[in-house]
This record gives sequence, structure tokens and C-alpha cells, in this order.
Amino acid sequence: MSKPFIYITRKLPKSVVEPFESNYTIEMWPEEEKPVEREVLLEKAQQADALVTMLSDRIDSEIFEQQTNLKVIANLAVGYDNIDLGAAEDANVIVTNTPDVLTDTTADLTFGLLVSTARRLMEAERYVKNNAWENWAPLLMAGQDVHHKTIGIVGMGRIGEAVAKRATGFEMEILYHNRSRKIEAEEKLAATYVGFEELLERSDFVVCLTPLTEETRGMFNKDAFERMKDSAIFVNASRGALVDEGALYEAIEQHVIAGAGLDVFQNEPISSDHPLLRFDQVVATPHIGSASEETRKTMMTLCLENIQRVMNEEEAKTPVTR
Ligand code: DGY
Repeated sequence: MSKPFIYITRKLPKSVVEPFESNYTIEMWPEEEKPVEREVLLEKAQQADALVTMLSDRIDSEIFEQQTNLKVIANLAVGYDNIDLGAAEDANVIVTNTPDVLTDTTADLTFGLLVSTARRLMEAERYVKNNAWENWAPLLMAGQDVHHKTIGIVGMGRIGEAVAKRATGFEMEILYHNRSRKIEAEEKLAATYVGFEELLERSDFVVCLTPLTEETRGMFNKDAFERMKDSAIFVNASRGALVDEGALYEAIEQHVIAGAGLDVFQNEPISSDHPLLRFDQVVATPHIGSASEETRKTMMTLCLENIQRVMNEEEAKTPVTR
């Protein structure tokens, strides 16, 4: 009997894939940085028993139209807004993601973005490296304090809680907004549940960690930015489409808010001439929330373990439910 076929839409390290090669035929898109071509994805989806997909792959109904063997799609991310779950369900294909294993790594990056934006770290680094530093000055590269300020977390899932935990070390007041209240987090982290508008109005740092859905798409719009303090810093480590980037641009340009730390964008990769990137007050990173070597390799292994489970007719470790 031939081995089940797994197609991986990006080149992953040999050390991660090798342990699975005795039981599966594994093929990978040969590029690490370039996404799989659409025609190749469509062709492989027809042939494969399982796919490992990236958040940059659009997995829509077309993928499922002619598939014959596909049983599972393991997405290398906690977010799965790139996958049409309804179409997968109709095609009887199980979808899995990679929660938990990336929580702390993503929270570290989120808090790092917050601190970098508040304390102008990237701007200060450019200043030193561009040889602009001639003298020490009392207000040279003076930013904003983080400690003892108010953080407002929109989306108090696992990553939201891990960010709140980090904020306790900075003795911050923690506000959060979520679909449902998180009583345990409130007790453990002294976090206070507030409405979205109150959170925007009271927070010094507004941190977006909510998943992208049809309800949350574009929720950070002109009205949201106008409700924030003029000293507020907005941080987004979830998905770019949660934000109206035109409204964010205007808010920073017109000093409606003070700045933004952004790991995600409406179109990724963001073009280097995007107006938001002109601001010193914007710190931008290339969607690297979970990108530590350890965590990314753990996520890759989890994808393959999920596939293995489904192939063995066991329940996936981390299935996505609608
Ligand atoms: C995810 O896994 O959804 C994150 O965006 C990765 O950084």
C-alpha cells in the first residue's frame, strides 16, 4: 500500500519533516520565502491526503472543488481566517491550527512592539546608526513611560492573557474587552472588563489581539481612533484587516493618536512606500508574532502530528471548530 501523501506549501526544515518520512510521502513547495503558486496548490490539493498550509495561503471553496483524498488541512498559525471553514466542512476536511504553543512567543513580540513604540527604540537606533548622535540632550529621543500606565487589551484569549501577565510586571492597570467575560483572568491578573468604547477612551496602550471575523473586520476605524487619547499608542499583532489603515494614517498624521506598533497589515507584505511606514511613530514588523525558532519548529511539528492523528483515525490534537 502506498504511503499517504502530505503536501507542505512552504519549505520547512528537514529536521522537522524527517521524523515523519517513514510513514508519509512528503513533498514541499521548494521556496522558503515565496508562497506556493495557486495552480500548484490546486493541483496538490487534488492529490494529497493532507496539506500543511501557511496563513498566506487562501484556502477557499475552489481548493475543495475537485479534491478526492484530502482529509486534513493543518494551518501553521493560531489564526485561520485564510481558510473557508464552511467549505472545508462541506468537503469533510478537518482543519487544525497551532494554539497554545505560540502564546508566550506572540505575547513577547506584542509587548516588545508596545515598548519599542512607546520608547522610540527603532527611531533611536536609526539615529545612532545614521551617525546623527552628536550630544546627549535632556529630551533626546524622549518617549512615553510604559510602567504604571493603562493597557487596554481587545481580545482576551490566550495571547491576550499572556500580554496582560506581562503588563502586571510593569504595574499597569489592565482593561480588557472580549466577546465574553474572563472571570479567571480578572481574578488572576486584576484585569477589568469594560465596553469597547470605554477601553478606547481610558487606555494609554490599545492592544488588538482579537481574531479576524466578519464582525471584527475594520473595527479599528476613524471613530475608534477618535475615541482614543491623543497620547495613545495602538498595537496590532492579530490581523491587518481589523484596521482601517486609511483611518489609522489620518489619526497619526493629525495627532489624534501618538503612534502605532504594527506586526500585521491589510496587504502582506506591506509595500515599502505605504504611507504608514513614513511615520517615525510607527514601528512595523513583518508578521513575526510567533517567529522564534523554537516556537515555529514546535508549530510545524504540531501540524504534522495533527495530520498523523487524523490519518490514524484519531482525534486531531488541535482541531478548529466553527
Ligand atoms: C498566528 O499564528 O495566527 C500569528 O499571527 C502568527 O504570528
